[in-house]
Amino acid sequence: DYALSENIVWHDHKLTRTERASLKHQHPCLLWFTGLSGSGKSTIANALDVALHQQGYHTFLLDGDNVRHGLNKDLGFSNEDRVENIRRIGEVSKLFADAGLIVLSAFISPFASDRRLVRNMFPAGEFIEVYMDTPLETCEERDPKGLYQKARSGQIHDFTGIDSPYERPSHPEITLDTSNLCVETCVDNLMSYLKERDLLK
Ligand code: PPS
Repeated sequence: DYALSENIVWHDHKLTRTERASLKHQHPCLLWFTGLSGSGKSTIANALDVALHQQGYHTFLLDGDNVRHGLNKDLGFSNEDRVENIRRIGEVSKLFADAGLIVLSAFISPFASDRRLVRNMFPAGEFIEVYMDTPLETCEERDPKGLYQKARSGQIHDFTGIDSPYERPSHPEITLDTSNLCVETCVDNLMSYLKERDLLK
């Protein structure tokens, strides 16, 4: 069993990621939002994206619904496909970070091993796991796309939190519960974290 990339040689670029980022006066990093459907991943990631942009930072946002319409439109929601979904997104996030950007990725990413794989692609301190710890009950009440209802009535299968597992992060850098925090407070918490860690210049 050999990797398909066995005969491919890695080329280091002349211009480094640090040099690309320094032109933007920022430190590249990946904010990885994980949590149940309806937990607020996209809402908070979008609000932070806007806040960073308004302060002059160069960002890029990747989220489930968008990536699954394009790059990952061949993937469904079996365990195997979710693993591949996150692997590809990890690689794409890394490319954007290498381009010097602050990357925000918002995916359920239910498996701890996949999140660890992405974490390990990044230098220490540059992968920030943001756990959207909103209770299932609240997510289900919100049910913005009516998917929980479909899952409960058996119209869709393998739905995260209902008949497909979600493994809670054991040591997330940041935990947010949008059942008791408003969007502004979540964004403030994230901003403070980034500033304290010297990721915003
Ligand atoms: S994963 O688990 O990380 O691969 O999922 P992700 O790429 O983030 O896609 C999640 C969005 O797809 C919709 N959807 C489902 N989610 C979970 N389970 C099943 N079976 C499913 N089918 C469709 C759902 O709208 C998710 O969007 P969010 O934004 O999380 O609500």
